[in-house]
Amino acid sequence: MNADQIFKDLSAKLGSILPEAEIRKKAELAVQINALKKERNAVILGHNYMEPALFHSIPDFTGDSLELSRLAAQTDKDVIVFCGVKFMAETAKILNPEKTVLLPALNAGCSLAESITAEDVRLLKEKFPDVPVVTYVNTYADVKAESDVCCTSGNAAKVVESLKSDTIIFLPDEYLARNVAQQTGKHIIFPSKTKGWPEAPTDTVLDYQLIGWHGRCEVHELFTVRDIEEARRKYPGVVVLAHPECSLEVTSAADYAGSTSGMIKFVQEHEAPSYLLLTEGSMADNIAAAHPEKNIIRIQGHRCPHMQQITLEDTLLALRKNQYVIEVEESVRQRAEKAVQRMIEIV
Ligand code: 13P
Ligand code: SF4
Repeated sequence: MNADQIFKDLSAKLGSILPEAEIRKKAELAVQINALKKERNAVILGHNYMEPALFHSIPDFTGDSLELSRLAAQTDKDVIVFCGVKFMAETAKILNPEKTVLLPALNAGCSLAESITAEDVRLLKEKFPDVPVVTYVNTYADVKAESDVCCTSGNAAKVVESLKSDTIIFLPDEYLARNVAQQTGKHIIFPSKTKGWPEAPTDTVLDYQLIGWHGRCEVHELFTVRDIEEARRKYPGVVVLAHPECSLEVTSAADYAGSTSGMIKFVQEHEAPSYLLLTEGSMADNIAAAHPEKNIIRIQGHRCPHMQQITLEDTLLALRKNQYVIEVEESVRQRAEKAVQRMIEIV
């Protein structure tokens, strides 16, 4: 597509939220990115949280963490540009050691990935020997390497159930763990380094079954039941969708809880007077842009500062300057790959 075509397409979707001059500038950046993408035989993967102009112009594929991991595993391109955060780009590298994986902004982190270290996981494994470890993909490669299997928000309960184990270590998201515990009918405990580690279970009848961690998503922990109550008062018939990184109180008060793509699909497939999306704000903007006929309500200000680091400008620089190259040490990568592959194989 040339700049005029991209401009027209973006204007149709974003004309009501962005000034014309800005859309024109974004369209020109997109043309340059698409040309370089072709020249470098690259694929651009865009997470659902990318800002609207980027989301609707340059990615070859968009999706949630699980879909993008699957796509990363299948690509035959030489270069993968990951428009998402670092743990996602690392997952792509884990699955594609021979390819160049680029993350347009090095400081695109994640509060969940920062909440746990590989040493923490090793200590937990010492305390709970032979208990399988499920790790959310929102972690760095060395943490994945200590795990038996990874999961995403889209398959967490399924992964836990696939292990057929009474007791499971589930890391590091406290709220996702609470949601999964409820879905799978398991009790939950939270060991604490500072308050003393609990003793490993010694008898066969366990009074706890999911061993969690205190990681939190700095965006999703902000949503409250009050937000839902207020929306229900203000918008009669509103359908509330929450990401499972929200607290159990919030997901229980919502009408639907699921991954980012799960929420998009839900909105596409249902007819409701309005939808309240309890997740990162750009995704609500993206759905609103794709479905102008639907009334999408956002809670302003709840944006992921890490996802917002990724811009069209930096994506262009990433391809031009080959930055920032994601590397994973080979012995770590091989162990992490087993956990990621095992997840991908669980349908
Ligand atoms: P999804 O896997 O649902 O896309 O979530 C990723 C994420 O970081 C949510 O905050
Ligand atoms: Fe991490 Fe939360 Fe941002 Fe997702 S929204 S990348 S979990 S900080």
